[in-house]
Amino acid sequence: IPVQPFDYVVFGATGDLTKRKLIPALYHRFLDGQFDEQSRVIGVSRSKLSDADFQQAARDAVTQFVEKQYQEKDVVDRFVKLFSYIVNDVTDEAGWGDIRKALRDDPKVVRAFYLAVAPDLFEPIAEQLSKTKVYRRDARVVIEKPLGHDLESSKEINDGVAKIFEEDQVYRIDHYLGKETVQNLLALRFANMLFEPIWNSAHIDHVQLTVAESVGAGTRGYYDESGALRDMIQNHMLQLLCLVAMEPPASDDANALRDEKLKVLRALKPIVNGDVARNTVRGQYRGVKSETTSVASYQDELPENKKGSRTETFVALKAEIENWRWAGVPFYLRTGKRMAERVSEICIQFKPIPHSVFDHAEGAPKANKLIIRLQPNEGVKLMMMIKDPGPGGMRLREVPLNLSFAETFAERTPEAYERLLMDVIRGSQTLFMRRDELEAAWAWVDPIRDAWERSSEPPQTYTAGTWGPSGAIALIERDGRTWYEGTDQ
Ligand code: BG6
Repeated sequence: IPVQPFDYVVFGATGDLTKRKLIPALYHRFLDGQFDEQSRVIGVSRSKLSDADFQQAARDAVTQFVEKQYQEKDVVDRFVKLFSYIVNDVTDEAGWGDIRKALRDDPKVVRAFYLAVAPDLFEPIAEQLSKTKVYRRDARVVIEKPLGHDLESSKEINDGVAKIFEEDQVYRIDHYLGKETVQNLLALRFANMLFEPIWNSAHIDHVQLTVAESVGAGTRGYYDESGALRDMIQNHMLQLLCLVAMEPPASDDANALRDEKLKVLRALKPIVNGDVARNTVRGQYRGVKSETTSVASYQDELPENKKGSRTETFVALKAEIENWRWAGVPFYLRTGKRMAERVSEICIQFKPIPHSVFDHAEGAPKANKLIIRLQPNEGVKLMMMIKDPGPGGMRLREVPLNLSFAETFAERTPEAYERLLMDVIRGSQTLFMRRDELEAAWAWVDPIRDAWERSSEPPQTYTAGTWGPSGAIALIERDGRTWYEGTDQ
């Protein structure tokens, strides 16, 4: 469905996010006819570029980051014509006048500001937008992490933006919410009768959430300031946890859904004091050197002045949700860089059957598991017990009921940003984080971080290319459980 024409003003237009994510996402939406030549993308940054330079940069971004089969010369030509560029420094009045002139006054043209800049610029930019009358009550502002490094700094950022923009104008991106498979969690839970009656502590033993990456932290300066807890747990993984654990909202209205997610965040049992050492594990990868491979350690990747950093590149933790539905059902979360493979998945481990009638069968019945694979090889798998075919009596075997998205759907899966950028134009906040959610997540994460900082223990090391430090295995095995290691059967 085509969206209304828009003026998308992108601050930080020469940055990495614009090049890698925003331009390719917009291109795909344009290619699909979701918007046409009525729309404009106005890049703003300090670099002295011309419109033609910026159009060339857009063309390069498409060449570099859009799959070859979708690069159509005439579409790219039409697409880059939508791009114009304004040189502007936040404090530079002249540049603001140019932004004002570039925007159309037509109320039917949606006005959106994407702040792909450091968060300390959000407030000054918002103020200038207001002062120079570029702000409109129906305009939208898009911001993205890092939205603070703790609760207090996140409040400051939100307060700064809120001086000008109302909450219903603010679109806080957590790109995981834009992923098709993450949205599918909602369909799976709330468009099927099958799961909801057993989606609780009476039938579920525990839940595992894994977001493993095989890449390293690299040389991103930001990462060492952040670490895995802030980079992945505070946002992406807590959002996933919310979607798995929340009560059914009354509708798909943005606030109905976000109210339910917020309740989960507020019901998370605080991990404080002695529980931090018991229920959390942090790790940092060390390199591998052999005849065939050589992978640098995290320490080796750091600049001289950061050597000895205790920033964690891996976190495993046990979260508990204190409400009727989930009392006694642990949620084990783990995420890390340089792990054995790139895989994000959710494993719902059901309880064992109450009584086995197969006393004489070979193979004991195993408890069912529902595995939701977010990436790659997206799909849903229900591990079930069946009778192994054959005349040899009752032999039980665990087999997957397997739904592979690639095999089932021919369509290309859109990237998260495609959905999110268009939702901003549609005015749909459902897949964006509300301020109170963001702050509730920080409030839960902060005491863990503080305890780590106070602790004399450094992060445990793990070898690059493994599933993390031994402490992560101990964390779950202590409870008589094991990590699901994705072995396809
Ligand atoms: C980002 C983190 O938010 O998410 C990165 O800052 C991480 O460190 C990335 O690599 C993972 O996203 P995806 O979409 O590749 O799973």
